[in-house]
Amino acid sequence: MNLAGTPPQRLSLMSVVGARPNFMKIAPFVRALNRHPGRFEHVLVHTGQHYDAAMSDSFFRDLAIPSPDVHLEIGSGTHAAQVGRTMIAFETVVRDRRPDWVVVVGDVNATCACSITAKKEGVKLAHIESGLRSFDLSMPEEINRMVTDRLSDLLFTTDEIADANLRAEGVAEARIRRVGNVMIDTMERQRATAAALDPRRLCETHALEPGSPPPPPLADGAFAVLTLHRPSNVDDPAVLRALVELFASEIAARLPLIWPVHPRTRKQLEALGLWQRARDARNLILTEPLGYDEMLRLTLGARVMLTDSGGLQEECCVAGTPCLTLRWNTERPVTLKEHGGASVLVGNDPVRIREAFRAALAEPRSAHRPPLWDGRAAERIVAAFLEMTG
Ligand code: UD1
Repeated sequence: MNLAGTPPQRLSLMSVVGARPNFMKIAPFVRALNRHPGRFEHVLVHTGQHYDAAMSDSFFRDLAIPSPDVHLEIGSGTHAAQVGRTMIAFETVVRDRRPDWVVVVGDVNATCACSITAKKEGVKLAHIESGLRSFDLSMPEEINRMVTDRLSDLLFTTDEIADANLRAEGVAEARIRRVGNVMIDTMERQRATAAALDPRRLCETHALEPGSPPPPPLADGAFAVLTLHRPSNVDDPAVLRALVELFASEIAARLPLIWPVHPRTRKQLEALGLWQRARDARNLILTEPLGYDEMLRLTLGARVMLTDSGGLQEECCVAGTPCLTLRWNTERPVTLKEHGGASVLVGNDPVRIREAFRAALAEPRSAHRPPLWDGRAAERIVAAFLEMTG
């Protein structure tokens, strides 16, 4: 009962996930909703943009996300095909179930497609991880972020730079809620489970080439980790060739380099004849895409991270792992050294990467936790929805 003596209203929420980086963001939100039985009716929709066991199922299992109530089975395709198919399928789901709110996370194609559909159906929209801007419209994610934020009624942000970006775009103050970072909720929840894993063992379990020689001992601080999947790094043959050469001949020669290979990167390596070069390089340890806990284990123990992933930039910041961000810009400036973080932008220029790698080896670890990155962001988001139920 509320003060007026009437029972609280039940709010119906429909949340959406589509691709790997969404899963660790939705997990804490679903868990926080479930702490308020009777207050919410919740439907989880998986668009199916990522569908492999290693890209999707393992995350549901590791993070104890309930099975989706609706699966749209969109699969791979061009951006227009993915967004178009998602909109058509999601429209039917929204019409059938008429939720009070659609809740989207992050910046993948599913985020943008379901935002447009929800608004056109007259359903209120909330965006978790709002306000991030790289100001680089050649990134599909930047377009997804801008469209989603422009349409959102409630914008949950991670830091004050995101708030400022939204204000500069004219978003009304009342719609912006700074809640912290749901990615870090998941990181803190899984930290102990991850820490118990053995890096060498997980590399063996997920080796890409059966029969490849066992990895060397991988003590904490004695290995580096690499992830690569952005079109800007893997789609241009000259860029990818130069990167592989640098990783194979120089970086891995200095420190064992663990590389969980994203499916789109693997395809490109094979198409360009670079697969063999990578596979045969000494101390370059190729694995399948890893599960959440496994990847977190490597992030916590790595001497250096080399990555074009936004999520890993944030996790490295909190873990204190020096992070060479293989991009020319970032929508997450709060993770950069100039803001106290652990990340430096090195683009895909071998000279800069080489120099930054050497510098990182000489540096002590330095962890940085921006305000509200405390493991309780999802609680704050759910509190905002609880307020609406009276
Ligand atoms: C997507 C997101 C990106 C995110 C990344 C994390 C967009 C625009 N991009 O990029 O922001 O950082 O996910 O992984 O939404 N594939 C598989 N199995 C799968 C999924 C994909 O083999 O389960 C292959 C397909 O061949 C596909 C390729 O990977 O063509 C790329 O997948 P796609 O969903 O188009 O984008 P990502 O590069 O994964």
